Amino acid sequence: MSLETQTKTRFNEDLNWRYATKKFDSEKKINREDLDQLLESVQLTASSYGLQPYEIIVVENPEVREKLKAEAWNQTQITEASHLVIFANLTKVTEKYVDTYLDNIAATRDMSREDLKGMEDMIKNTTLQLPQEKQNLWAAKQAYIALGNLLAAAAHMKIDACPMEGFNADKFDEILQLENKDLTTAVIAPIGYRSAEDQYQHLAKVRKSTSDLIHFI
Ligand SMILES: Cc1cc2nc3c(=O)[nH]c(=O)nc-3n(C[C@H](O)[C@H](O)[C@H](O)COP(=O)(O)O)c2cc1C
Repeated sequence: MSLETQTKTRFNEDLNWRYATKKFDSEKKINREDLDQLLESVQLTASSYGLQPYEIIVVENPEVREKLKAEAWNQTQITEASHLVIFANLTKVTEKYVDTYLDNIAATRDMSREDLKGMEDMIKNTTLQLPQEKQNLWAAKQAYIALGNLLAAAAHMKIDACPMEGFNADKFDEILQLENKDLTTAVIAPIGYRSAEDQYQHLAKVRKSTSDLIHFI
């Protein structure tokens, strides 16, 4: 088997190893170095135009997590996992936000803002023209890509995670004080290490067959 094929196979082994963890071992904490590496994978996520229209909040505080759990059907992963990652998307895209991004490109790539005029027009003419509801939806979609990257990267590092949408976003926004930052909770992921008692880890994966899922035309 070629090295390339071996690497691909190992990646799918990682994806088979992962599962939406229902019970975390509350005694096991992710060390800072691993956490930083995992969050760097999230930072490296692709996004439309590269705008990354979201922020990532890592909740460690146990009292805050108790409050959040009450607004997430009391799902115990929220308090028992090592850390709770919140993907909060921008509710609207502003001209100032786009300008800050373009300034970052110019500084990082040693370019002038004039060089980026074409890109600026394209981004502003598409994103800023959208009704706010669509801007919110578009930003949330980008946040979900970051979630996907977190799940894959965590699996690669043998860190467990549970993607979750089962929560009251309005209440989360209130507890996390996101509203005045024009952010809203899109999706969350408790991360840590599975409990030996979590029976879900032994279940076979249920997925559509490749013929139902994938079509070559
Ligand atoms: C966006 C999203 C939201 C989810 N919300 C929850 C949730 O609130 N609680 C939960 O226990 N699992 C949740 N799940 C986990 C799914 O049920 C799980 O990923 C799916 O059944 C496939 O199983 P697997 O991830 O273990 O392979 C969610 C998954 C995704 C991707």
